[in-house]
Amino acid sequence: MEETVSGGNAPKRQLVEIQRCQKKPAFHFWFKLLLLLSLIFLVLGLALSDNALSWWERFKLQGDYRWFSNTTYRADIPGYRAHPKHTVVQNEIHETTEPPPVRLKGIQYHQAYPRNYQFIMDNTEVCKKETPFLVLMVPVAPNNVAARDAIRQTWAKNSTVQGELVRTLFVLGLSGGVDADKLKQENSLHHDLIQSDFSDTYLNLTIKTMVIMDWLTTRCPTAAYAMKIDSDMFLNIDNLVIMLKKPGIPKLNYLTGMLMWDRPVIRSKDSKWYVPEEMFPDPNYPTYTLGMGYVFSNDLPTKFVNVSKSIKPFNIEDAYIGMCMKKLGLSPTSPPDPSQFKAYNTNYNRCEYSKIITYILASSQELVNYWTDLKKPGKAC
Ligand SMILES: *[C@@H]1O[C@H](CO)[C@@H](O)[C@H](O)[C@H]1NC(C)=O
Ligand SMILES: *[C@@H]1O[C@H](CO)[C@@H](O)[C@H](O)[C@H]1NC(C)=O
Ligand SMILES: *[C@@H]1O[C@H](CO)[C@@H](O)[C@H](O)[C@H]1NC(C)=O
Repeated sequence: MEETVSGGNAPKRQLVEIQRCQKKPAFHFWFKLLLLLSLIFLVLGLALSDNALSWWERFKLQGDYRWFSNTTYRADIPGYRAHPKHTVVQNEIHETTEPPPVRLKGIQYHQAYPRNYQFIMDNTEVCKKETPFLVLMVPVAPNNVAARDAIRQTWAKNSTVQGELVRTLFVLGLSGGVDADKLKQENSLHHDLIQSDFSDTYLNLTIKTMVIMDWLTTRCPTAAYAMKIDSDMFLNIDNLVIMLKKPGIPKLNYLTGMLMWDRPVIRSKDSKWYVPEEMFPDPNYPTYTLGMGYVFSNDLPTKFVNVSKSIKPFNIEDAYIGMCMKKLGLSPTSPPDPSQFKAYNTNYNRCEYSKIITYILASSQELVNYWTDLKKPGKAC
């Protein structure tokens, strides 16, 4: 069980401070005055708030953030300063140790900055030997070998697509029950696993996405484009490469996919997409591309990694990338044919699948079946 910040460390730190102050009579008076003032503010705040409980929670959370930025604040590093809103701004990429978890109602949120985590497997040679045109980065649960094998048999099978080099890599975190040796074996067979040492959970998907961005920045900067694509997707890889080679497709600052405009932040606590106001106060997300599959020029990952240091983490990875874009003064672009990025689908239709780029599927078996059918000789439509 992890140490919690809200319950443990902050009050402890306060106690240490109190003891130190009591040794100095000059501080004693000021401290008492401060305490009195804080008490007045606390009572005032409670009285003014329409919901005393949520106010108290917000207070606690801000405490966590203050505590977090205090621990990372480094006066000795030039250009390192704490923003009034408790975010830390840094000019240079700086390796830090893992940040303390911030706990809110049993959910832990982490700084999304990926350099707090370390690669266990990173396949550095992939982009050293060759320069891919496109790198497909697939977040997948460590134990989901079936999904990886289905992808290896289908859209990742042929590394030459429309005359361009395409590479597919699977991105995993740590997961308790999975045999590390088995993963190493799988990797020595396929050389396509990227693993980092954060725990692989649904609420940590933003970390996973940022680890993808870190890998692209540090291990594959020469690729032209990259795509983050979920493991339950049908990908018509030929159509994607054809789209990216169209004249007029930007080579820089380009992010495309299924665009989401003015999406409201889900405040229902039962939803798997629940985000508390404390994490993300605006009622709507900035424009973003749906997480099932978004494509970007490979200059962006460096910028995302850098800017993530100053964006408060929240657990919706695709909207988080939308925030990074907004902060960079950029915006996602509609694909040349928006109807090619499809989400749910009811029936397989060969003609339809020959025209699209993405579809969400129900199983890995569907992927293999539809792919096999699509690749049969003969006209699709
Ligand atoms: C891979 O695709 C290329 C065309 O892009 C084709 O010439 C080649 O036969 C394919 N290889 C396999 C193993 O399917
Ligand atoms: C996210 O990953 C960190 C680092 O491994 C871990 O401490 C934390 O428990 C994870 N959070 C969740 C919600 O799974
Ligand atoms: C990283 O971000 C800082 C501001 O947070 C900015 O000044 C700097 O130019 C950025 N560096 C890169 C390489 O984008």
